[in-house]
Amino acid sequence: MSNAAAKLIAAQLRRKPDSVLGLATGSTPLGIYRELARMHREEGLDFGGVRTFNLDEYYGLAPEHPQSYRYFMDENLLRHVNIDPKNVHIPGGLVKDIEASCSEYEASIGQAGGIDIQLLGIGRDGHIAFNEPGSSLGSRTRLKTLAQETISDNARFFRSLDEVPRFAITMGVGTILESRHIVLLASGVEKSDAVRQALEGPVTSEITASALQLHSTVTAFLDDAAAEKLKRRDYYKYVESMRQVVGQEDL
Ligand code: PGA
Repeated sequence: MSNAAAKLIAAQLRRKPDSVLGLATGSTPLGIYRELARMHREEGLDFGGVRTFNLDEYYGLAPEHPQSYRYFMDENLLRHVNIDPKNVHIPGGLVKDIEASCSEYEASIGQAGGIDIQLLGIGRDGHIAFNEPGSSLGSRTRLKTLAQETISDNARFFRSLDEVPRFAITMGVGTILESRHIVLLASGVEKSDAVRQALEGPVTSEITASALQLHSTVTAFLDDAAAEKLKRRDYYKYVESMRQVVGQEDL
């Protein structure tokens, strides 16, 4: 799953060296970042012109906090590739004027020309970024109060439940839907209900990932466990096998 998604990103960077990548944190994209770092090291994959925008950041954590998403990105991808630090954008976890900083974030995505490929994980409750159930499907970058389920899911990264931040700054569903290509990643059986509801359920703010059904270009990379509850699984596999027939193996 990770290698296939990393291949897609590498193809994008070779096609357009100043691509704008939307990046995600969490356990799911770790394999992709490892593979991209390897491609940089061993195959010279060039990040020199790449611009990046991360989906979200915990509100209240300093950049050097080991659980901040800034720290995560530095450790797992950025320090392993030749990206220019001024081209890296991650919402600030300590900003004072939250609204102004969220509008600036949106504006800088626009100034960069929009996001070419946006990576997305999915929460067990169907969230994308920190757009918790009930988030407006037109939402923009803003401060979000985290759902209890997200706080307890993420507690494993902190010493105690009390240390998990209660807020995050996150791109909105509307922001994400403006990306040109969205790559959804999920692995493990614990994601299978969310994946089914996101891809085959009704479009609803209860499962913010279901808004992806409104987008023209979404690629889902799923392992067998995450895909196991999809009703049309056999059809999707058939579609995949038929790509060769129309010469679209690389999509
Ligand atoms: P995970 O998080 O990749 O750590 O499962 C995904 C998410 O909650 O969006």
